[in-house]
Amino acid sequence: MATPSGGGRTALVTGGNRGLGLETSRQLLRDGFAVILTARDKAEGEASARAIGAAFRPLDVTDPGSIGALASGLREDGARIDVLVNNAAVALDGFNAEVARKTIDANVYGPLNVSQALAPLIPDGGTIVMVSSGVGELSALPPRLRVEFASPNLTRAGLLKLVEAFVAAVGSNRYREEGWPGSAYRVSKVALNALTRILAGEFAPRQIKVNSVCPGWVRTRMGGSSATRDVTAGAKSIAYAATLPADGPTGGFYRDGRKIAW
Ligand SMILES: NC(=O)c1ccc[n+]([C@@H]2O[C@H](COP(=O)([O-])OP(=O)(O)OC[C@H]3O[C@@H](n4cnc5c(N)ncnc54)[C@H](OP(=O)(O)O)[C@@H]3O)[C@@H](O)[C@H]2O)c1
Repeated sequence: MATPSGGGRTALVTGGNRGLGLETSRQLLRDGFAVILTARDKAEGEASARAIGAAFRPLDVTDPGSIGALASGLREDGARIDVLVNNAAVALDGFNAEVARKTIDANVYGPLNVSQALAPLIPDGGTIVMVSSGVGELSALPPRLRVEFASPNLTRAGLLKLVEAFVAAVGSNRYREEGWPGSAYRVSKVALNALTRILAGEFAPRQIKVNSVCPGWVRTRMGGSSATRDVTAGAKSIAYAATLPADGPTGGFYRDGRKIAW
């Protein structure tokens, strides 16, 4: 068995009530971390946390009030978040303006706003993990958009302008002409990967590592029953990035501990 690397450090996982978030929480506990499991459904989150021996805090990543309450509650309790796992996400059925809006809100603004609100509680040398997906590879985009998302000069504001242009293009039904893929989930993960690179740069002065991870295709409610991997393997891929040493790599995209292409 591997030596526990948590060493009493604290990890906070979003969307921890089920699926990969729950299994990642379980693996981090086993690795010696104290885990704060968060979920938007209080009863479900509490039950899941109790079942594995984690602490629970409510968090809806699309609700600024909920994010603010989490951050101020943790601050009042003197909590330190050594590792933040931005796992919560949606993959909604259908493709229309509402689906695009809700997907971008949960999968892009969610990790951005949670990371920003909790950053003061993350010590220098801490870790942020963005649970992304191979479907967010830049190759999913036509050259014009690929260049924009991949630009090393892309800022937070520039990224948010791009995702808002996507939502607007779906609303006006011009997304095809503008070169956007017909999948809000795909665009959200492309954007999340760009956010990883932006935040890795912003947090570099504090040695806070920010990496994206693909867990593979996993049998969860989102992945479905035909998926090729169980949650143990998928969560292991996430736990790799969560347990990197303080001076570990930042601004990368990993699957099973190996770097993959953006
Ligand atoms: N499964 C796969 O094959 C696969 C592949 C690549 C990447 N991923 C990524 O892995 C992560 C976990 O996915 P999963 O397969 O475990 O999916 P899942 O079983 O559908 O779980 C998604 C989790 O996100 C939570 N969530 C959704 N919206 C939320 C919100 N607004 N606030 C807080 N929590 C919210 C859900 O809570 P509720 O129970 O309240 O809905 C649930 O806990 C996601 O980022 C997903 O994109 C999954």
